[in-house]
Amino acid sequence: MNNLLKGKKGIIFGALDENSIAWKVALKAKEQGAEFVLSNAPVALRLGKINELAELCDTTVIAADATSIEDLENLFDQATEKYGKLDFILHSIGMSPNVRKNKAYTELNYDWFLKTLDISALSFHKVLQVAYQKDALNEWSSVVALTYVAAQRTFPGYNDMAEAKATLESIARSFGYHYGTKKNVRVNTISQSPTMTTAGSGVKGFDVFYDYANKLSPLGNASSDSCADFTIALFSDLTRMVTMQNLFHDGGFSSIGMTEAFMGE
Ligand SMILES: NC(=O)c1ccc[n+]([C@@H]2O[C@H](COP(=O)([O-])OP(=O)(O)OC[C@H]3O[C@@H](n4cnc5c(N)ncnc54)[C@H](O)[C@@H]3O)[C@@H](O)[C@H]2O)c1
Repeated sequence: MNNLLKGKKGIIFGALDENSIAWKVALKAKEQGAEFVLSNAPVALRLGKINELAELCDTTVIAADATSIEDLENLFDQATEKYGKLDFILHSIGMSPNVRKNKAYTELNYDWFLKTLDISALSFHKVLQVAYQKDALNEWSSVVALTYVAAQRTFPGYNDMAEAKATLESIARSFGYHYGTKKNVRVNTISQSPTMTTAGSGVKGFDVFYDYANKLSPLGNASSDSCADFTIALFSDLTRMVTMQNLFHDGGFSSIGMTEAFMGE
């Protein structure tokens, strides 16, 4: 399985440090022959380690707040100037001020809720809309965003991120229709197991539900490395007819009702 992405160009959003899912995707995309620019919010460029990743991947970082159309337009202009039209995009972006500041779901700050939705969901629409309007993607390109099963089932600590993920998944279906019809571009979300990252461990009780999911899943929790493998498969030409899907990458967790181990056998 070599050179699955040879000749392909793209943008990878959301690598903050070596634990980030986007970090692993970038390393594997490079390994598989892709060329790409990295992007993250200006504050992440100051606080994170993305420049180290850029060196490892022999590429550049272009700052963009993914809620700003102006920033996104500038990013796509620079990326297409460098590469011509692109073939893949990873949206690996999430943040909730309510989660960060420990606001209970029944006491949400609505300004923050709107921020959660803007950063974690609408940004996906903005990325797609800017790409669409600029005609920045080749036919059969692949766009992937990361999501979590709290979009379908309730996990109290996930708070208003649940609404953001439900919206994100819906955007993949709706934009997948429009982009598919126009240019055969495919749009999917990957619903990933709990993963030890900055965003993940910010969720209240994360350790407990990490263990819970790990025990309930027949294959255990999916690691960020295997999530990166799955993302590469979705960027590759081996998955050209997959679009408008929310694909669970969770060791089986989303299909489990109860296990013998949990029932005490
Ligand atoms: N970690 C988990 O348990 C888990 C599980 C399922 C899905 N996810 C999703 O995976 C994605 C990546 O998260 P991660 O776990 O790798 O954590 P992470 O903290 O490494 O990545 C989140 C990224 O979002 C970026 N970001 C925040 N605000 C932004 C903005 N305004 N503009 C641009 N970028 C911004 C951050 O700088 C960071 O790089 C997120 O969508 C997250 O919800 C994570």
